[in-house]
This record gives sequence, C-alpha cells and structure tokens, in this order.
Amino acid sequence: MVLLFEVLERVCYGTIFQTYPAILKTQLFSNESQMHSKIDSTTDVSDIDFQDIEDQFTQLLHLDNLEQKINENPALKEDFEDTLEYALSDGLDESGCEPQALLFLQRILYRINRLKLFWYDDLENYSNEDSHYLFGIQNRIESAWQDWESNHIEVEPVDTIAEVRKALRDRVAEGLDPEPSAEGLYFRNEMTKTGYRRLLAIASLDGLVEASQLSRVLGGVGNEVQSMLTRIFSEEYGKGILARKHSTYFSTMLKQFNMDTRPEAYFDLAPWEVLANINHSFFLCERKRNFLRYIGSLLFFEVSVPAAFESYKLAGERLGLGPEATDYWELHIKEDLRHGRWMVDDVALPLVDRYPDLAWEIVWGYDQQQFISARASQAIARSIREA
Ligand SMILES: [Fe+2]
Ligand SMILES: [Fe+2]
Repeated sequence: MVLLFEVLERVCYGTIFQTYPAILKTQLFSNESQMHSKIDSTTDVSDIDFQDIEDQFTQLLHLDNLEQKINENPALKEDFEDTLEYALSDGLDESGCEPQALLFLQRILYRINRLKLFWYDDLENYSNEDSHYLFGIQNRIESAWQDWESNHIEVEPVDTIAEVRKALRDRVAEGLDPEPSAEGLYFRNEMTKTGYRRLLAIASLDGLVEASQLSRVLGGVGNEVQSMLTRIFSEEYGKGILARKHSTYFSTMLKQFNMDTRPEAYFDLAPWEVLANINHSFFLCERKRNFLRYIGSLLFFEVSVPAAFESYKLAGERLGLGPEATDYWELHIKEDLRHGRWMVDDVALPLVDRYPDLAWEIVWGYDQQQFISARASQAIARSIREA
C-alpha cells in the first residue's frame, strides 16, 4: 500500500476566562431567565444564544462540588447539554458545517483543555480538573470532532520503513522551502499596522504559552529521543531564564503596541480554526497512544515556522516596526531551523526504527497538522482583512 494523503477543500468560516469569586458561586443559576426553551430538530441556529450557554458552562466549571450539584439538580446542565447535542450534530454535519456551532464546540473544549496547564491564578479555578462530568464532555466533543477532522485527510498506512523515511524527508524538504501561500503573500505585502495588531492578538492565545504541550510528553523513561525533546523544550523555555523564554519575546511584541499581555486577553478574537489548532495539540499530547502523531505535528511546526514567520517579519519591516516588534519572528526563524533538523534526525527518524509498524502515524500527524495549520492561517487572514 502507499500512503495517500488527500487534503479535501472543505473549510468552514468561522472572552477572557473569568475568575468567579466564591460569593458568586452561590448565586449561579438562581435566575430563572437563564433557562432556555428546549432545543429540538426544528431549532434554527440563529435562535440559540451560544454565548449565554457558554457562560452557563463556564459557571458550571467553577462550581464547588460540580459532580454532586449536577447529580442533585440535573436541570443545571440541561440547557448546556441540549446545545451541545445540537452543536455536535449541526456543527459537524457531513453536508455542511455551521461555524457558530463549531466555534461553540471549540471554545468549550478549550475551556476544559486549558485546565491541563497552570496559569498561576486562583487555585479554586482547578477544583473540577478531575471531574468525570467534564471528562465526559471532553470525550464527546473530541471523538465527534476528530472523526469529522479525519474526513479532511485520507490516510492509509505506509508499508515499509523506507517509504516512511522518504515521506518524512520529502515533507521536511518542502516544509523548509515551500511555495508561498496566498495568506503568506498577503501578510507580507498587504497587512496593515491594524492587521498586524490583530495578528498578534489572535496569535497571543498560543504565543504566550507556547510549547506548553511539549511539556506534557517529556516525562517517563530516558533515551536519546526524550533527551532531544527535552533539549528543544529547554530552548523554547529560554533554558530556564524568563527573559529568554520564547513567550517573553511574544509579550515584548505586544507591549510595543500597548496591547494586553495577559494570556487569553484576546480569547474572543480567536476563530474556531485557531482554537481547533490548539485543541488538536492537546488531543495529541495528552494521550500516549497519539505520541507518534504528536511527533509528526511538532515536526511540522518546527519545520514550517521559519518560512511562515519570515512573512510576518517582512511585514513588520515593511511597516517600519522596530526590532522589539519583530524579534519573536526573527528568533524562531533562526532557532526553528535547528529545531526542525533535530526533530527529523534525532526524534522522528529514530522513532521510525523504534515503531516500524506504526511509523506511518508520524506522517499522518505531520499532514494533519499541515492541514489544520493552513486552515487556521486562512482564518487569521480573514480576521485581519476584517480588522
Ligand atoms: Fe518557540
Ligand atoms: Fe522551536
């Protein structure tokens, strides 16, 4: 068999986390007006106030004894569950996807996933981190959404190790020197200063916590692959010096525009495609069974970043921005050339030998990440044009 990846052109178009003080928790759901009329097959998407339902879910997230409270009073989750069911069927409908429903699903999933990282905020925000209920919601969204994503790329296992090696080497060569995309050319040649600010706002959601997902795969037994991943992680984290941490460079860029440097400050600007990109990384890194796909995904990031960030850097220079407004891109253009090389030679290829029967999953991870990243990039370009 050969490995067949066919990217299908089927792309849909597409608020900061609140800390709920204890006193508010007792007031949750006391207002009858929060309860919605039943959603059924006749409901139109325009009838649903997704933001209101999401707010209700966020309140659930911060509820003391969530499990006990929803067991005692299942009505607490009824509106959310109805909307979730609707979004899962209409948002991920084979005949066409509903952007509002997709955004709702990705925002809910992100709100659960972000509990995996520590934000140095109120520890009470993590009370429900191990909730069975939230785990069930996460599973329902992820399994339906990942099934839906699998329609976008056709995958067949590669037969031989030699074919996997060739597939990886071909992709890396192309990733390092790609044909410029329409979005890349737009960023480089047309994006305005307002557009640049919008780019930073949307990218900050990941940029300010970048490489966090890599931390989730580093534990466990030591070997050459693990050591190299740790080395890359160490560089992403400035070798333990905050001023050199990559996210600090992102923060510096934001400061040049007097923008908010708090992570998630611009959460509301993130299109569903960008949230899907972040949620996909969580989906891969949080499951050991997905390790090879995660490696393929990370390989894509490290290999593709120099060319992608070159467009942003050139845009900054064209707009007459100083180095502090573009250093983040510059840093990655240099470092990720090295990281890409390490990833292919010292991580991906050794794993092909370690897992010969499953090695094709690295290529799967690479191709799927390429598709999801391109879709996110198109959504960012649309948002910038609107800005
Ligand atoms: Fe980085
Ligand atoms: Fe990197």
